[in-house]
Amino acid sequence: MASYDRQKEIKSFDETKAGVKGLVDAGVTEVPLFFHHPPDGIEVRQPTSAAGAEIPVIDLGIINGDRAGREKVVELVRMASERFGFFQVLNHGIPLAVLDEMLEGVRRFNEQKLEAKMTYYSRDLNRAVYFNCNFDLFQSPVANWRDTLFCTIKPEPVARPEEMPEVCRNIIMEYGMHVQKLGHLLFELLSEGLGLETQFLNDLECGKGLSHLSHYYPPCPQPELVVGTSKHADPDFLTVLLQDNIGGLQVLYEHRWIDVPPIHGALVINIGDLLQLISNDKFKSVEHRVCTSKIGPRVSVACFFSPHFCPSERSYGPIKELLSQENRPKYKEVTISEYEHVYNSKGLDGESALDKFRL
Ligand code: OGA
Ligand code: NI
Repeated sequence: MASYDRQKEIKSFDETKAGVKGLVDAGVTEVPLFFHHPPDGIEVRQPTSAAGAEIPVIDLGIINGDRAGREKVVELVRMASERFGFFQVLNHGIPLAVLDEMLEGVRRFNEQKLEAKMTYYSRDLNRAVYFNCNFDLFQSPVANWRDTLFCTIKPEPVARPEEMPEVCRNIIMEYGMHVQKLGHLLFELLSEGLGLETQFLNDLECGKGLSHLSHYYPPCPQPELVVGTSKHADPDFLTVLLQDNIGGLQVLYEHRWIDVPPIHGALVINIGDLLQLISNDKFKSVEHRVCTSKIGPRVSVACFFSPHFCPSERSYGPIKELLSQENRPKYKEVTISEYEHVYNSKGLDGESALDKFRL
């Protein structure tokens, strides 16, 4: 073991620019050591029923009726955001054909010829469009069995459509437009759930920046040794996640992992660190992970609402309207670049970035 030079192995892997899919295409039957989780790193997968809790599925369709319908949805969103930090939504307004084509687009990008895909390969996280295997490959303790295409689509014109890969640019733009609209509605519901004016979070520009991460998790020959995405919380206000039918996403709830089962046509919504911070811990940014499988590839699309590319010195702290004698601020004010610096420089190491800003 002493002779194992991890940095060197990672570097030569990175230089292939072929990602995890490149290993699978080359026919590996044993995954390289730098992907191995510590032996006790992956807790045993618990059946959902063991936790006595399920991630709520909320039908947004009932908002269209009367006022009572909207109040009901706000209440469900509030409860889910406080308890799990996660929920799924149905009747969210994005056509099924768009969801299916979005997943297809991610498959097309990853399954095209390597020469076409590797031109996007980069470790420069400040680029508006890039493809790589693990944004934190050189920082985090364990590599994840996952390749990702990253496109910042808001604010415009960070990534112009012509900069995006041709095989998926149209659907990324179309899906992105729908997600923005949905995000606007979700921020309204979340504002109401916090007891604030309907447009409060939108006015705070929580939905101004939007990044689009297309994940591709190839089938893994040794799924028991490897994780698709390490335990982490999201570095944004809110995430809208589209997953295919393979499964593997799990959420930490009362020290147990519970599944977020794939539902065709549903979207997974979760609270990010920045919303936990400004809501002063009322809404929870909860840790989650993705398990690997021999079956695959698994494809997912995570849309992050975050001011990542909004050049601003604006700082975010707990919302004043929520504070009182009994509810003192729990966080200091942070700028997005301060927060992202902490998040990105440690990578997905299992520790919370948000805790670093706790008072
Ligand atoms: C993420 C994430 C889950 C998934 O991108 O932050 O948690 O299912 N993705 O890919
Ligand atoms: Ni996540």
